[in-house]
Amino acid sequence: MRVLITGSDGQLGRALVRACAPADAVLACGRAQLDVTDADAARRLFDRQRPDAVVHCAALTDTQACERDPRLAFAVNAGGAERVAVACAAVRARLVAISTNEVFDGAATEAYAEDAPAGALNAYGRSKLEGERRIAALGGDALTVRTSWLYGAGGSNFVTKVLGAAGAGRPLRFVTDEVASPTSAEDLAAALVDLLRREAPAGVYHLVNEGTASRYDWARETLRLAGIGGASVEPATTAALRAGGYDGSVKPPYSVLANTRARALGIRLPPWRASLAAHFARHPELRAAATASPPCHD
Ligand SMILES: NC(=O)c1ccc[n+]([C@@H]2O[C@H](COP(=O)([O-])OP(=O)(O)OC[C@H]3O[C@@H](n4cnc5c(N)ncnc54)[C@H](OP(=O)(O)O)[C@@H]3O)[C@@H](O)[C@H]2O)c1
Repeated sequence: MRVLITGSDGQLGRALVRACAPADAVLACGRAQLDVTDADAARRLFDRQRPDAVVHCAALTDTQACERDPRLAFAVNAGGAERVAVACAAVRARLVAISTNEVFDGAATEAYAEDAPAGALNAYGRSKLEGERRIAALGGDALTVRTSWLYGAGGSNFVTKVLGAAGAGRPLRFVTDEVASPTSAEDLAAALVDLLRREAPAGVYHLVNEGTASRYDWARETLRLAGIGGASVEPATTAALRAGGYDGSVKPPYSVLANTRARALGIRLPPWRASLAAHFARHPELRAAATASPPCHD
């Protein structure tokens, strides 16, 4: 299979390059090889490379940057997805486009199924949802895979931020009222390859590690695995953080995704705590980041 990966320098893109079998021809395309805001670039590239499948990981994922510049967010996350989908249709390549839990408003009290009505609260979520809708409107051989709270090797993610804050002795306060499923980029990449091999029917899929966590739960488990479980982590509410000056984008309070359609195909991801432990086992250097200097709590 010739698999082209957009955004291949990002955390999921890198994990996918590793997850593809040696027998696959992997066409890893970072922004330098394919800028998805360039009107014609995807069509020209796909015409030359003739991929069988395209996994579209490129996105503007910095939610605060999306809030500051919604036009750019829509150009990359909606326009980019549409351009990639049009280029896929032209060469009859199967598209797997990655989307997010943040297409939901988080008012639910149980996990969102794939067909639950979406309605995003922030610019990032709205731009990703618009990308989903444009792909669906084209009606091609496309899978939209929503995931949540990704962490992987290298780069910046919640795990590295928690460890960095602990190592620098910054205060450790995390909210209890934002709940989803931390998801390993390695696990997601393996599941995506599985979806491609099974020739899963088109449509929307949810793929997250099993189980739920608040940001506070996730931070505590991260610090425990880093060997500094004794560090004092304070639970907080979003309202209290905002009153203290936090001005991040509005997040869905409860955006747990149910992997209903993938499970029906026999694709299962491990519980999030087991996957986080496996991530620490693969990356012993993470422990050093957390203990660069002792956390101070005054
Ligand atoms: N991270 C999460 O927690 C999370 C949660 C749910 C869903 N997702 C989705 O999962 C996918 C992968 O996310 P990730 O965590 O791997 O994000 P990431 O590490 O930020 O990777 C995204 C990649 O896209 C590239 N990119 C940005 N603008 C581009 C453009 N105009 N043309 C081409 N490439 C461009 C980025 O390059 P630069 O570094 O040069 O900007 C980066 O390498 C995205 O679709 C994201 O929306 C992520």
